[in-house]
Amino acid sequence: MKNLFNKKSIPHLLQEAQANEHGLKKTLGMWSLIALGVGAIIGAGLFVNTGRAAAEAAGSGVTLSFAVAAIGCAFAGLCYAEFASTIPIAGSAYTYSYATLGEIVAWIIGWSLVMEYALGAATVSIAWSEYLNNLLGGAIPYEWCHSPFEHKLVGKETINGIMNVPALSILAILTLLLIKGTQESAFINGIMVFIKVAIVLIFIIIGWNYIKPENHTPYLIPESTIGHEGIFKWGWGGVLGGAAIVFFAFIGFDAVSTAAQEAKNPKRDMPIGILGSLIICTILYILFAHVLTGIANWKEFGVGGAGGEASVSYAIKKMAGYEWLGTSVNIAILAGFSSVILVMLMGQTRVFYSMSNDGLLPKLFSVLHPKFKTPYKSNVVLLIMVGSFAAFIPGSVAGNLTSFGTLFAFVIVCAGIIMMRKNFPDLERPFKTPFVPLIPILGILVCFAMIVALDVTTLTVAVIWMVAGLLIYFGYSKHHSKLRKESDK
Ligand code: ALA
Repeated sequence: MKNLFNKKSIPHLLQEAQANEHGLKKTLGMWSLIALGVGAIIGAGLFVNTGRAAAEAAGSGVTLSFAVAAIGCAFAGLCYAEFASTIPIAGSAYTYSYATLGEIVAWIIGWSLVMEYALGAATVSIAWSEYLNNLLGGAIPYEWCHSPFEHKLVGKETINGIMNVPALSILAILTLLLIKGTQESAFINGIMVFIKVAIVLIFIIIGWNYIKPENHTPYLIPESTIGHEGIFKWGWGGVLGGAAIVFFAFIGFDAVSTAAQEAKNPKRDMPIGILGSLIICTILYILFAHVLTGIANWKEFGVGGAGGEASVSYAIKKMAGYEWLGTSVNIAILAGFSSVILVMLMGQTRVFYSMSNDGLLPKLFSVLHPKFKTPYKSNVVLLIMVGSFAAFIPGSVAGNLTSFGTLFAFVIVCAGIIMMRKNFPDLERPFKTPFVPLIPILGILVCFAMIVALDVTTLTVAVIWMVAGLLIYFGYSKHHSKLRKESDK
């Protein structure tokens, strides 16, 4: 039993970081880190989930949902910042929990991070498919751009989805790029961020004039609304339900922490990078949601509603005189989604790489290509896995599971800070989370509340996922763990 909670020693981890420093250059300053964060953050969560959260749970109050989700992220972000500055190695929640909470918790977190990154990439690729079809004027037949779990009515006929081919294709293309070692340089990333932020700003500024106050009245969904039975479907409960859906839009700020080793001045810049990108995105998101639900009524964004898919393009069509904007916005959104998918796929291979190095996953996941020096086998396995999700499950299911995995990781990171303060009080901490244990406890509570507000299907699938993970741990990882072998010597 004790072995299940074996911990990696922090001095050992720091030594590993020292050794790695020879390979990684400290090139990232404050602005590059913020750009990295914003680059990984703005994507499908904003362009797709805003409309969905408004229609399903929050109404125009989706602006408040963004505020709630941002508060949860800020608490977790402050905890990430302490970890990233104290243990500045290819920092993921997996590594942090291996050092503070022990092997089994690290495994569970690694397994949840698969939900965050692999399912996150699948979700954004499904959104990519939605916007591509919109750009092509609906030219892709419904059955070839939807999962078998989706259908639509045309007259009296029901058309069923078969497979989401565009989602699978973009994943395959980006996997090839990753295998070839094509990395987003800070410059390219900067351009992507510029384009994404520009679109959001243009939409807010122009769209502001098209807001109809009646679309914002009442602001929250009234209790008696048909189809909104359940505490997280209307009123303030709906705001929380909406927060769980739009939480997806914030995923990615933790990507900043993975670059801790490359930061010029992690002590100052990691917190600024993590929290700065969060603040910028929160402001943009709230304004964006205000305009979107002002141009069209939240009811129009429901499944089967006129704006149920590609909601931003739908809203732009309502802005008389600016229809031309639709196409360029569409192309820019596709480019923006691609960068998010790329970062997610890369993040996933990094987590697999660390888990495989620790013996918890087969060696296959840490084998590097002889020429390109990329974990190519891992990339291919990942493509098969993520590709199956993208091709055969609906975006909303994949999106909610991504949120579950991330929220769960956040809860553990917050708990990890409390444990680390207790177990390693003398460690040098360049950045300290303020008001410990209050902030981590609040982080745990808010993130936990958002987990509870997820729908029952998501929670059921998540439990099955976790049980499957534990079976793999006890069937394979426990017996192959390098740390366990060392401690048994
Ligand atoms: N935050 C990222 C997005 O919304 C995952 O696409």
